[in-house]
Amino acid sequence: MYKYLIRPILFLFDAEFIHNLILSFFSKYTFFYTMLSFLYNPGKSENIIAGSNEFKNRLGLAAGFDKYGTAIRFFHSLGFSHVEIGTVTPYPQPGNPKPRIFRLPDYQAIINRMGFNNGGTIEVMSNILKARKYIQKDFIIGINIGKNKMTEIENAVLDYKICLNHLYNYADYFTLNVSSPNTEGLRKLQDRDYLDNLLSEIQSENKSLSAEKSLKLKDIFLKIAPDIDDEQLNVIFELCIKHDITGIIATNTTLKRPGINTKTTEEGGLSGKPLRKLSNEILDKLNKLNSVLPDKKLLLIASGGVFNKDDFNEKLRSGAALVQIYTGLIYEGPAIIKKILK
Ligand SMILES: Cc1cc2nc3c(=O)[nH]c(=O)nc-3n(C[C@H](O)[C@H](O)[C@H](O)COP(=O)(O)O)c2cc1C
Repeated sequence: MYKYLIRPILFLFDAEFIHNLILSFFSKYTFFYTMLSFLYNPGKSENIIAGSNEFKNRLGLAAGFDKYGTAIRFFHSLGFSHVEIGTVTPYPQPGNPKPRIFRLPDYQAIINRMGFNNGGTIEVMSNILKARKYIQKDFIIGINIGKNKMTEIENAVLDYKICLNHLYNYADYFTLNVSSPNTEGLRKLQDRDYLDNLLSEIQSENKSLSAEKSLKLKDIFLKIAPDIDDEQLNVIFELCIKHDITGIIATNTTLKRPGINTKTTEEGGLSGKPLRKLSNEILDKLNKLNSVLPDKKLLLIASGGVFNKDDFNEKLRSGAALVQIYTGLIYEGPAIIKKILK
């Protein structure tokens, strides 16, 4: 019904307009949740210990779908084990000029150049607080953090620390987004010197916040780009081990246009089907690096091009403990969750 009736209607409208409309509708009309849950929620399927959290299944919603944390209860009702809110920056910012999301239906893909439009830490904090009253304890809320556009790359660490500080009580885990292609210079944070410093500062802040607030140490994930070479990937892996990072999310969107023949002039990050191969290659390489470690391994979270159970299983075979989706949900609708998890 979604693919043949609802999607064609939704796709008549601007992508961002319809996205926001749906999120605000379902965050307002909460009485739909019982019905949505009945239709789409596959129920608890497994108990997965990933880092210090327990997930009720391996499927989560990727960052960027609910940037403000307004629709956490909606995604909870659909049956995901976790949702990643954000990317959140210390202060609210409008992002890039619209239009900034483009569908490529022939390729089952999306190009976006949102540029971290978000409400800042205070808004996310209050939205998570509201949602927590209603959701089950086993629903995991991750917060994906980044830097404000105005912050120079040399001072970026401070922005990540502010986010960690403000949101420490509200997240089950944090993701450091160093891979969005739509914030100028952000991907430089994947380079050795910047990354070494970022991870070291974040982990020392993590330890002091945990002690100060008497809370367990938070899991820290690093979300990386698919557009990196083997040397860069080795450096990232080595630094994650050095700084006791819990895991890597592979991957964010790509600046490449694999298999896309249209003369699309739109700039931004490409997601969906054409990203699958690229992000799987990175995942495979990470899995290989993991396999030679003697004991403690990095947790791998896969993101990129999951549209069905085969795509999902492929990621698990390549060592992913958890899988996140975004574009697949837009093209396949909420039934994708049950199809993958049943
Ligand atoms: C419109 C849009 C906005 C996104 N915003 C973010 C973001 O703010 N932070 C982030 O880490 N990833 C963001 N992403 C990337 C997704 O989280 C995901 O990693 C990527 O789209 C690959 O997965 P997919 O092929 O299932 O969409 C965004 C993706 C899209 C399509």
